Amino acid sequence: MKENIYITGFMGAGKSAVAQTLAKFLKRRFIDMDEVISRKSGMSVASYFEQFGENKFRQAETVSLSEIARQNRVVVATGGGTPIRSENRSMMRDSGTIVCLQVPLKDCMTRLSSAGSMERPLWKDVASVKTLFDSRRQAYEDCDLKIDTSDKTPEQLAREICEKLEPPRTTNVNLAGSEHPLIISWRAPCELPEILKTRKKIVLTDKRISKFHMDRYAPILEDATIVALRPGERSKTLGTARRLYEVMLKDNMGRDGLLIAIGGGVVTDLGAFVASTYKRGIPFILVSTSLVGCVDAAIGGKAAVDLKAVKNPVGCFSSPSCVILDLTALGTLPSRCLTEGLVEAYKTGLVANNELAGIIETDINPLLRGDMLCLARIVKLSALTKVEIVGKDFKETGLRRILNFGHTYGHAVESFSNYRLSHGTAVAVGMMVAISLSGRRGLLSSAVSESMLTTLSRFVAGPVLAPPIEIAWAIMMNDKKNRNGRVNFVLLEGVSSPIYVDDVTPDELAKAVREVEAFKNG
Ligand SMILES: NC(=O)c1ccc[n+]([C@@H]2O[C@H](COP(=O)([O-])OP(=O)(O)OC[C@H]3O[C@@H](n4cnc5c(N)ncnc54)[C@H](O)[C@@H]3O)[C@@H](O)[C@H]2O)c1
Repeated sequence: MKENIYITGFMGAGKSAVAQTLAKFLKRRFIDMDEVISRKSGMSVASYFEQFGENKFRQAETVSLSEIARQNRVVVATGGGTPIRSENRSMMRDSGTIVCLQVPLKDCMTRLSSAGSMERPLWKDVASVKTLFDSRRQAYEDCDLKIDTSDKTPEQLAREICEKLEPPRTTNVNLAGSEHPLIISWRAPCELPEILKTRKKIVLTDKRISKFHMDRYAPILEDATIVALRPGERSKTLGTARRLYEVMLKDNMGRDGLLIAIGGGVVTDLGAFVASTYKRGIPFILVSTSLVGCVDAAIGGKAAVDLKAVKNPVGCFSSPSCVILDLTALGTLPSRCLTEGLVEAYKTGLVANNELAGIIETDINPLLRGDMLCLARIVKLSALTKVEIVGKDFKETGLRRILNFGHTYGHAVESFSNYRLSHGTAVAVGMMVAISLSGRRGLLSSAVSESMLTTLSRFVAGPVLAPPIEIAWAIMMNDKKNRNGRVNFVLLEGVSSPIYVDDVTPDELAKAVREVEAFKNG
């Protein structure tokens, strides 16, 4: 299915400005149809009209549109008359969504007069423009989405179009009887005021997120104390927690205070840990800005800090007052952070959601490029799947363990690399090994394994770094998630059909690792 977006509307509706802004926001290619025709013909649209007449221009327009419609995920500013022909509307609808920017005629007139209408071939006089406007009304009515443009900036209109194409979503999360809303939104800051009320607040974030996004949040945070940490895992320590307790004590924050953590998994894990332990627990809100956070870290009530090189050994289970997934923030994520999040989302898809796994396999290129609508779709599916799993098993005594898929061997690879290898890369390798083990046991067909391995190898840059098997085994034996003193693996009997095994031998593992090395390293 094609997902182009065609922005249309009458002269002066702001088609080019909105389409350009939308394309930039979505990380998609922008095409201006008038420019395409001018480039092909070597003359301006006005000269084309003058020399060949409207009929010829409309024919050239249909030809250009048919070429554009063969592409995918482009944002197109059409001509104002493009939707008049029903064959054009069909082409646009078959290859995407037609968005009509609606603007009252008098506003078009004002905009065109002030912008100068000389270059508009169909602008003759007020009466003729009114007739033209009326003659196009029906074609504009037939568009898929109609957006009222009154008093809105191109940025606001672009946001509104995103919301129509991937609507926000609120769901209830139940963690062992304690409920809170999970809000997936393009306008995360607007979701906060109701919740904040007049409490004493501390806001935890990091300096990078602050640089990119705090201006969106600042107006509603009012008098909150804002603490911006050094970005990255090195801030997720007891030392940082202690400094935060001290700030909160100095602020005389009582149990009726509120902690708001705005950031990636480091900020939300640390924020949840500090809020859960300060004065035996104060309410907290998690606002997730990273893909790892939106698909995983902010959901499920786990809070933790690191101890030296050991990740997450100190922590607790606790329930936030609210979790907000900030879709707009994903636009400033560096590509390595996108990959990290896609690995976790693909893991969730493979163990629990066919549709999610399938979309990631099909849309891997736009996802790695950071296409915002594709990312929003993944966030929704992945977050809602995790909500369902943790709702059934908050404390990880049963079902939730399926989310450890890929983490058994992945943990060994990450630890052996002394955490120089990213968590996402290590888990992707761990998933490849678990898939190979599943294939070797006859649980997965070779076609299915190969398609999964192909997707996963897109997340692993460079050759696979495999520790010697005795070292890997020793690390896995020490994993805090082991049960009964045995190494536990999650394998697959198919997509969404995970099984737990504890009888993998070092020899069997070594063969699977060699198979993955051969697949990835060639
Ligand atoms: N609690 C859980 O269930 C759970 C699950 C998975 C991971 N985690 C934890 O999450 C952490 C990893 O999360 P992460 O990958 O988000 O790490 P992170 O919080 O360190 O964020 C990664 C980097 O992206 C930056 N960043 C975040 N949002 C941004 C944005 N919108 N624009 C630009 N830059 C942005 C951060 O400043 C940081 O430099 C680990 O500590 C891990 O243990 C917890």
